[in-house]
Amino acid sequence: MISILPENPAVHAPAIEALYDRTFGPGHFAKTAERLREGSASLPDCSRVAVEAGRVVGACRIWPVEIGDPATPAVFVGPLAVDEAHRGKSLGHDLVQATLKACHAQGWQLALIIGAPAYFEPLGFSRVPAGRIKLPGPQDPDRILIQSFGATAPDVHGQVRVPASRRHVV
Ligand SMILES: CC(C)(COP(=O)(O)OP(=O)(O)OC[C@H]1O[C@@H](n2cnc3c(N)ncnc32)[C@H](O)[C@@H]1OP(=O)(O)O)[C@@H](O)C(=O)NCCC(=O)NCCS
Repeated sequence: MISILPENPAVHAPAIEALYDRTFGPGHFAKTAERLREGSASLPDCSRVAVEAGRVVGACRIWPVEIGDPATPAVFVGPLAVDEAHRGKSLGHDLVQATLKACHAQGWQLALIIGAPAYFEPLGFSRVPAGRIKLPGPQDPDRILIQSFGATAPDVHGQVRVPASRRHVV
């Protein structure tokens, strides 16, 4: 049986890092998305792991960011990874849904992800019109997706960055 749990960093972090390493390889850290994670810290209460018999078989982390000026707080979703042996069983979708539910419950109003629209649109994400949201590096605009938990989507635009209050020296 697979359980989806909040991340407990002391227990899950090494296995999550190992899953990310074997899923994405070393090139992972060169990606623009990583510029929104380095020097920051994820939100374990909102992040989720899929665990089977004590083994991490899927993970989706959540990071605090802000967009534009004045700053609109948002969560940055990902990386999402499911162990190869467990793909095609809806685990990826279940993990993202569980993180979004946790983010909403914790008062977050907006979620941002960089990913395949075909995969994330069924989960409530929509493409951001080209040029509205700027990332700290090159990015295919078709993969910048956003979701508002409110009734109406906010008119959010501008630079995405790690909030100054969350930055730490690494
Ligand atoms: C992408 C990934 C997380 C999907 O995990 P998964 O548990 O196999 O996905 P699910 O079973 O939840 O798939 C749900 C649906 O999305 C479809 N789907 C799966 N991967 C897809 C992709 N890359 N693009 C578009 N659709 C996809 C599935 O066919 C399924 O469709 P269905 O509901 O009509 O059957 C997994 O393949 C993975 O870890 N890939 C490598 C890392 C990666 O690319 N992460 C995403 C970017 S951060």
